[in-house]
Amino acid sequence: MKVIVKMLVFLIVIAVAYQFVNAEVPLKGDSKTMSGNAKKGEEAFNDVKFAGGKAGKKCSECHAKGKGFEGLDKQQKYKVLDKEFSSIEEAANFCIQTWLQGIPLVKDSTEMKDLVTYVRLVSYNKQPSR
Ligand code: HEC
Repeated sequence: MKVIVKMLVFLIVIAVAYQFVNAEVPLKGDSKTMSGNAKKGEEAFNDVKFAGGKAGKKCSECHAKGKGFEGLDKQQKYKVLDKEFSSIEEAANFCIQTWLQGIPLVKDSTEMKDLVTYVRLVSYNKQPSR
């Protein structure tokens, strides 16, 4: 009998601990990183004049159907050419400057949030609802 009680207590402790650990795992696409307007982000993604771009290039030319964005949510580092960045925002700004010949966006601006929200969405293989 005592052994059964001990086992029950043990199982309860495990169950409680498991829930605690689970609560620490952030949700995929949490509101912090996907709080922007994905439709506006998509427009920017297809706009050759985005961020004052002078090169006549747009994001979708090189990242059609999310090319290069596979598994972004699992990455800690983002790479463009031989450069490494610690956020999608910085990688996007590098692409803006290098390819679009545009002006980098302020990291927590509305424009950047919209763009990153769209980038994350296509990385999950989804399109914004219309
Ligand atoms: C001329 C081509 C070109 C254009 C235009 C371009 N990119 Fe990129 N971008 C690349 C290349 C090449 C890489 C690095 C290789 C890869 O992952 O495909 C990259 C990487 C990235 C990454 C990091 C991906 C990762 O997995 O680490 C992000 C984010 C990104 N680009 C966003 C953008 C955004 C936003 C725009 C539009 C403002 C843009 N890019 C325009 C070529 C381009």
